[in-house]
Amino acid sequence: MTVIRGATTIANDSADEIRSAVAELLAQIESRNSLKRDEVLSIVFSSTSDIHSFYPAKAAREAGFASCSLFSAQEPEIEGGLALCIRVMLFVEKNISPHHVYLRGARILRKDLAQKFNIAIDGPAGSGKSTIAKLLANDYQILYLDTGAMYRACALAANRAGVDVEDAGQVCDLMRELQLSVVYRDGVQHTMLGGEDVSALLRTPEVSMAASTISRHACVRKKMVEKQREIAGKMSCVLDGRDIGTFVLPDADFKFFLTASPDVRARRRYDELTARGEQVDFEALKAEIAARDRQDSTREFAPLRQAEDAILVDTSDMTVDQVLETLKRKMQEKI
Ligand code: DC
Repeated sequence: MTVIRGATTIANDSADEIRSAVAELLAQIESRNSLKRDEVLSIVFSSTSDIHSFYPAKAAREAGFASCSLFSAQEPEIEGGLALCIRVMLFVEKNISPHHVYLRGARILRKDLAQKFNIAIDGPAGSGKSTIAKLLANDYQILYLDTGAMYRACALAANRAGVDVEDAGQVCDLMRELQLSVVYRDGVQHTMLGGEDVSALLRTPEVSMAASTISRHACVRKKMVEKQREIAGKMSCVLDGRDIGTFVLPDADFKFFLTASPDVRARRRYDELTARGEQVDFEALKAEIAARDRQDSTREFAPLRQAEDAILVDTSDMTVDQVLETLKRKMQEKI
């Protein structure tokens, strides 16, 4: 026996919508699995709690499933779940590798049933990683871990202690003492040095460049990566950085590599900083980003690189919504 799954959505709760959506879904399942009617033993439907006007099982009878057993049930309300959705399971009297069918946007990660999963987003500065990572995390109600903030906090600690970020010896001594942690309040990451929340101090150009330099050292990366793996091991989260897909979580469930042209990336950072009231010189910012790119991608230990199995998305000419939709679509295709 084989079990084939499927789902579809309807635009409104009406008998006609339900009839045609169920007929379409079953027809697609039949054709994609080369089924004959008499091979279908039974069909079980469940519909979301906002569907009342017609029984999906009756729609199946009307669509010509005359002899198999049929059953419909209603699901409890699921926070953040799909609206107006009909799910189906067909029990089929032959052994095939099933083609499950999801129509009309009915395929999303169901938060109530989904297992723990990690999304890795890597890419150079200004490629849109953190914006997209935050939105994805919010959409799926999972954690967002900004790994760049951790390296930035290391750099801030070094600057404060007068440690030369180029000097491996000094940096590794500092790392042995460093009390860095990441805590979440209302779903927002706060990066802590000891008991001090340093999140607001991490975005200056000096800290950016020092973070790129300090993150070259293996002793820094090992300590940060250990923390990142610990967090990602416990819960579903989106991590953004440079080496998440290649080194931190090579088995991440979903991997993306975002990029954009140097001009676009510099412009985004410029807009972000000036919106916060900071004074920045565009050309200097562009040069800093180029220098960081070079340094991040040429370092020896876990450099910035696209993982072989990561999906490349060039965001240069895309809106935030387009990037988000692209990533979500790619994830659905992979489920
Ligand atoms: O993503 P960001 O701009 O906040 O990162 C700051 C620097 O930290 C970046 O230039 C390189 C380093 N970094 C890293 O080496 N690995 C990561 N996973 C994240 C950031």
